[in-house]
Amino acid sequence: MFETPKPVLGNDKPAVVKSWDEWSPLKHVIVGVADGGMIPPGEPALDAKVPEDSDMKGQWGPRSQESADKANEQLDNFAKVLESRGVRVDRPTPIDFSAPVSTPDWENPSSFGCMPPRDVILTVGKEMLEATMSYRCRFFEYLCYRPLMQKYFEDDPHFRHTAAPKPRMSDASYRPDYLSDQIGVEKRLKWTAEKFFVTTEEEPMFDAADVLRFGKDLIVQHGFTTNLKGIDWLRRHYPDHRVTAVNFPGDPYPIHIDATFTPIRPGLIINNPERRLPDEQREFFHRNDWEIVDAARPAHNTPPPLCYSSVWLSMNVLMVDEKTVCVEASEVNQMEQFDKMGLEVLPIPFRDAYAFGGALHCATTDVFREGDLVDYFPKG
Ligand code: GLY
Repeated sequence: MFETPKPVLGNDKPAVVKSWDEWSPLKHVIVGVADGGMIPPGEPALDAKVPEDSDMKGQWGPRSQESADKANEQLDNFAKVLESRGVRVDRPTPIDFSAPVSTPDWENPSSFGCMPPRDVILTVGKEMLEATMSYRCRFFEYLCYRPLMQKYFEDDPHFRHTAAPKPRMSDASYRPDYLSDQIGVEKRLKWTAEKFFVTTEEEPMFDAADVLRFGKDLIVQHGFTTNLKGIDWLRRHYPDHRVTAVNFPGDPYPIHIDATFTPIRPGLIINNPERRLPDEQREFFHRNDWEIVDAARPAHNTPPPLCYSSVWLSMNVLMVDEKTVCVEASEVNQMEQFDKMGLEVLPIPFRDAYAFGGALHCATTDVFREGDLVDYFPKG
């Protein structure tokens, strides 16, 4: 005699975590905070990324309270705008980023911050995956998201909280060729075009912000912060997805895909015209009727002071849904391009927050978007 199975406790609760793509209606998001953000000290991966003419070269330490206050003001305003659009907003809990950190393999005099959740947490369906990361100063950043993860775990019986294996990040994981700060842009462009990046293939490494979610497809940039083993790890971890590696020659500092290649809605992507997807890699998108158009030029010639990123944060935008886009408020060219595409543009002042880890896509990570898993590339 069989008993009727009892429902699992709480199984009928609505899902808290679910997001399959970059554009379906956003209902719940994490927005970072600038508190305690550091200019981190030199280390192999970071040194390769900081531009040779950067005002940050050779200095490290806490960012000023004044700059953190200004950044937080803009982050809080961004959160308010999202809330006014019906999006629930959560915030991470900073740890002491100024404290020295170590593992059995290395010591680093400080951590980084927790303004860009996009770099650390990858939401795919009902799972939030903590990326391996690739900088030592970001090794413990996942701790800032643990209070939220614990809450989602309690509130959503279907939520899967996972962490990719932490890399050793010993010197074997980085090419010593990149230790010099006199490489020059020409040589860097040659190296990156040849896929000779700072990270070796010693062990899987990836940052979550190298991954774009297109339903059944995950498009991943192979560059400084994600190696081929990291992409292979993702492929094995998501066996029901197609995981495709892409490269963008033209970028001397290839980290994170979201100032280079930005999906707007099914069938439409904007691509940085200085870092164009090579023709052979475009083929996959074209045969599935996706259009890749050049992004508008940034409105600025230089990033704000003490900022790691390029002026192309202009295209680091957050889709609230297929028809609504958050764009940095001074990026007039990008706003005009979106306006012509028929999108509603929400201008968000954000340049004071850039130095803490990027723009509007970087500063967020999805918790919940409506919609289900769709195959947007049926021709494979
Ligand atoms: N990849 C980040 C930037 O362009 O600044």
